[in-house]
Amino acid sequence: MTEAKLIPALNKENLSHFSKTYVPSRLLLGPGPSNAHPEVLDALSLNPIGHLDEAYISLMSDVQQLLRYTWQCNNRLTLPMSGTGSAAMEASIANFIEEGEKILIAKKGYFGDRLVDMATRYKAQVSFIEKPWGEAFTYEEIKYEIETKKPAIFAIVHAETSSGVLQPLDGIGDICRKNNCLFLVDAVTSLGALELLIDEWKIDLAYSCSQKGLSCPPGLSPFTMNKRAEEKLSSRKTKVPNWYLDLSLLNKYWGSDRIYHHTAPVNMNFAIREGLRLIANEGLENVWKRHNTNAKKLWKGLESLGMELHVSEDYRLPTLTTVKIPPAVDGDGFKNHLLRNFGIEIGNGLGELSGKVWRVGLMGFNSCEENVDRLLNLFDTELKKFSIFESSTF
Ligand SMILES: Cc1ncc(COP(=O)(O)O)c(C=O)c1O
Repeated sequence: MTEAKLIPALNKENLSHFSKTYVPSRLLLGPGPSNAHPEVLDALSLNPIGHLDEAYISLMSDVQQLLRYTWQCNNRLTLPMSGTGSAAMEASIANFIEEGEKILIAKKGYFGDRLVDMATRYKAQVSFIEKPWGEAFTYEEIKYEIETKKPAIFAIVHAETSSGVLQPLDGIGDICRKNNCLFLVDAVTSLGALELLIDEWKIDLAYSCSQKGLSCPPGLSPFTMNKRAEEKLSSRKTKVPNWYLDLSLLNKYWGSDRIYHHTAPVNMNFAIREGLRLIANEGLENVWKRHNTNAKKLWKGLESLGMELHVSEDYRLPTLTTVKIPPAVDGDGFKNHLLRNFGIEIGNGLGELSGKVWRVGLMGFNSCEENVDRLLNLFDTELKKFSIFESSTF
């Protein structure tokens, strides 16, 4: 046997560069991830067990039951997909679109654009309606578009993390049913934080993430689909063009049979069970109230410091606030200062709001009065140091 030549990345000389893994302590008040709850971290650090072990199978059922409560639905096929929010987003497109099928996407920010991109890749006949980043669609606008375009699927983002807009969803489910169309909702920044009633609002398909309202690390994407969606899936003429996200295969593991599909990220499922259990213990309505109360305190505090918010209060998103960067302020400088000197992360503006706003998140475990006070205090004392003109006030 010839002697193997090792790539010298880990030879004796430079091994010493690697100390034990360490990450600095941060308070994550940006668009996500948000901090994980300490009890979620405890669950995450348990030793893995087999993904077909009967103890794990019973944990899977707990996760599904807790997810149904959090989604407020009775859907049989309710599961946490392996992967971040974009995985379940892609599953929603890959499974329900066949080549040439019509999808109508209402886009008012970055994540609406992502839906358009994905649907195009799966060869849908994509049409979209658009709003400036910072505005929401009216019921009438959506009704008109669905009735005239007659899509097979209508997709919309509930909580647009790029702009800070909360889209009212009431009544859209009825329009979709009357027009024989599936109603698909992105709930990445609303599940487990804001009122969301899957059954009552007649939402056929929805997806979310683990790293925001559920107070877990990123890695799972809760997904739910009702009977209308199941019927559409079973009437497909062609195979789902994505093996990993094929719901008819995932159904064999997360449905009744618990047959192996892929090795489940078991620790992330321990974690999500814990995040969901904490929500159920607090009670959904209390969770929603906590997010609304803390967001209102933040808005009021920022405005009293002279800051302007990007979105009108009528459809402002409690989980993510877009704060206008005053013209005389070095926005990046202030954001970096908070991170480097106080360990607090806030987000930059994304896409067309880049350089114009900061994004402040209050999600899950992080939505508490103490965090609001801490951040407001820093806006009060530190922001003036980043004024481009010495004398400016805001
Ligand atoms: C509204 C929305 N949709 C989709 C995504 C994509 O999720 P992920 O980044 O977890 O893949 C995000 C991410 O923040 C989001 O905010």
